[in-house]
Amino acid sequence: MRRPSFWGSRTVRWMLRSLQLRVARGPAIRPLLRGALALMAGCLLIGALGCDSRSREIRARLSDQDLLRFDRGQKISSPCWACHDFYGTQNKVGPHLLGIYGRSAGQSSFPGYSQALQSSGIVWDRTSLGRFLASPQSAVPGTTMVSPGIAGADLAALLFYMDLVTRP
Ligand code: HEC
Repeated sequence: MRRPSFWGSRTVRWMLRSLQLRVARGPAIRPLLRGALALMAGCLLIGALGCDSRSREIRARLSDQDLLRFDRGQKISSPCWACHDFYGTQNKVGPHLLGIYGRSAGQSSFPGYSQALQSSGIVWDRTSLGRFLASPQSAVPGTTMVSPGIAGADLAALLFYMDLVTRP
């Protein structure tokens, strides 16, 4: 009956070796991890200024004046990102917004739409989006989207930003 002891010693040797590796690599890996964490934190911080390739691409072809509007819109959009993916197809707490211009309200793959939004008959364009984002509850009574209204130049900048980034 040598089998169990053979497996036993192999396992023990493997465990010892991985332990050694961990001890040997630990201190070398830690600065790398710290670097990666710092990079992530940096991206989060300047995320609103276009850390990702999509907004970098768009920003590169804007005039200085449009750039200001775009960056302002992006900043205004940051709370929306908690619930919406603007240029992917990921549904979060709210529906993804890819291709939102021209889309009928409440008709994407998102499973959690309210009856109110689904039967609103709205087709999203600048005017209807502006009305909805200025006051979701008064534009679509019964909508489940909870968001403080946005107005004036902030709203204009947000719509400008959305028009550019949500295009498929
Ligand atoms: C707390 C989560 C949350 C936040 C923050 C939020 N939304 Fe929403 N949004 C939702 C939900 C949920 C719906 C679906 C509402 C319904 O079915 O009545 C929705 C719907 C929408 C729709 C309609 C989508 C469609 O397919 O018809 C748009 C456009 C929209 N949101 C844009 C925004 C923008 C822009 C912001 C930021 C100013 C924002 N939302 C902030 C949760 C959120």
